[in-house]
Amino acid sequence: MKTPGESITHAGLLLRPMVATDAAAAGAIEQLCYQHGWSEAIFSDCITQGVPHGYRCWSLDINGVMAGYLIFTFVADEAHLLNIALKPCYQQQGLGHWLIARMIRYLQKHQVAELYLEVRCSNLRAINLYERLGFSDIGHRPGYYPAGEQREDAVVMQLHLHHYLTTSALTAIIDITA
Ligand SMILES: CC(C)(COP(=O)(O)OP(=O)(O)OC[C@H]1O[C@@H](n2cnc3c(N)ncnc32)[C@H](O)[C@@H]1OP(=O)(O)O)[C@@H](O)C(=O)NCCC(=O)NCCS
Repeated sequence: MKTPGESITHAGLLLRPMVATDAAAAGAIEQLCYQHGWSEAIFSDCITQGVPHGYRCWSLDINGVMAGYLIFTFVADEAHLLNIALKPCYQQQGLGHWLIARMIRYLQKHQVAELYLEVRCSNLRAINLYERLGFSDIGHRPGYYPAGEQREDAVVMQLHLHHYLTTSALTAIIDITA
């Protein structure tokens, strides 16, 4: 994978659980990615709640610095992707796809059957990625997100995890990076 001005080897990629001190870096990435993003306090809360309360907070580090993150919950056989973002300089290089594929594999190991997420109607890049991963649009939540003075609808998407990862493209990504 390449970014402007540097080569990233797989050895330079580290996916790890977040710790309390990561909240500030995550909050800073959030400000770069969203107009109405999560505060640092929300990241702190998710990290503090942690595994005992069903939260998983993963940091993707590149050469020792947080490049993005993935926050999800799961209870019994249902999971919910709460947040995923990459610094703008690391977007559009396949890392989002890779992160979600890693999460899917993890959830399958924990016998999770269904994965859900909400995404802004206007976030076509993310919706396109989710569709290519196999998510289906299962409904809308009107006015779910703030949007300046107004509100914006969320698209609710679902992925069935049983018998997933049979496509060669996705398997190849996982095999290379496992
Ligand atoms: C949404 C987000 C996480 C997706 O991650 P990403 O790493 O940019 O996504 P990917 O690179 O895996 O896939 C996106 C595009 O890159 C392309 N791509 C994948 N691998 C590539 C590669 N090696 N080289 C060039 N392009 C590549 C894909 O074809 C895809 O293009 P398309 O969507 O225009 O068809 C990221 O863009 C982001 O952080 N956005 C801001 C926060 C956000 O919107 N989060 C989602 C909230 S629901």
